[in-house]
Amino acid sequence: MFKKLFGQNENYIDSELSAEVPLPKHVAIIMDGNGRWAKRRFLPRIAGHKEGMNVVKKITKYASSLGIEVLTLYAFSTENWKRPTDEVDFLMKLPVEFFETFVPELVEENVRVNIMGYRENLPAHTLKSVEDAIEATKHCTGLVLNFALNYGGRAEILSATKAAILELKEEGRDPEDITEADIDNHLMSQGLGDPDLLIRTSGELRLSNFMLWQLAYSEFYFTEVHWPDFKEEDFLQAMIDYQNRSRRYGGL
Ligand code: IPE
Ligand code: IPE
Ligand code: MG
Repeated sequence: MFKKLFGQNENYIDSELSAEVPLPKHVAIIMDGNGRWAKRRFLPRIAGHKEGMNVVKKITKYASSLGIEVLTLYAFSTENWKRPTDEVDFLMKLPVEFFETFVPELVEENVRVNIMGYRENLPAHTLKSVEDAIEATKHCTGLVLNFALNYGGRAEILSATKAAILELKEEGRDPEDITEADIDNHLMSQGLGDPDLLIRTSGELRLSNFMLWQLAYSEFYFTEVHWPDFKEEDFLQAMIDYQNRSRRYGGL
């Protein structure tokens, strides 16, 4: 029962990927549990974030090898600014180290970097490292590695709605005629499609303001594994689980 709750149905826990059933095109991950991973080892929380960064590299390569089209990773939420300054500073330095060491491999793997979030309040060094990585990988045509950095779902819906209303006015259309497509076209994930599968690590069963609009019909996969312990096998298990879901979108 407990296993089932976390999506790991014992009937196929050891089975393999099916060649017939498609894999998710867009996988989104709430990478949670870095702090708890560190605490268990009597290490500072930042040690968990550092290890988590290595897992991002591993899972990016693995997702790319499986032919996943988009991998969206929740790296920093608009609410994470509430954390102690030391931790926030560390988290804002991580992209610098990540891209400095990883961009050559990303290019080799044909992975294109994208960012989704409010760029305004990012420190200059963080923003520069991300923008350099976007520039260096802009020609890549394989996996899109999309970082949600300073991202919040409600704020995104609000900004998209405001932008859509402005556009309607400019086009001489009545703002009352606003459609879902108008809002969709102004989301930060524009062009990437909605996630087919959302994974959250570390046993927390909530969205924490992540992609509220886009996750309307996504499949959810929860695992108790802390993000720094997340392995290729865990990602594979989520893929197998996904292949055993039946997506109905309200129909029969
Ligand atoms: C996820 O791990 C990383 C970020 C939110 C940046 P946490 O730092 O939330 O780890 P826990 O949830 O405290 O264990
Ligand atoms: C969500 O995790 C944000 C990221 C993984 C970046 P949190 O750890 O911030 O979420 P809560 O506070 O447990 O809801
Ligand atoms: Mg957390």
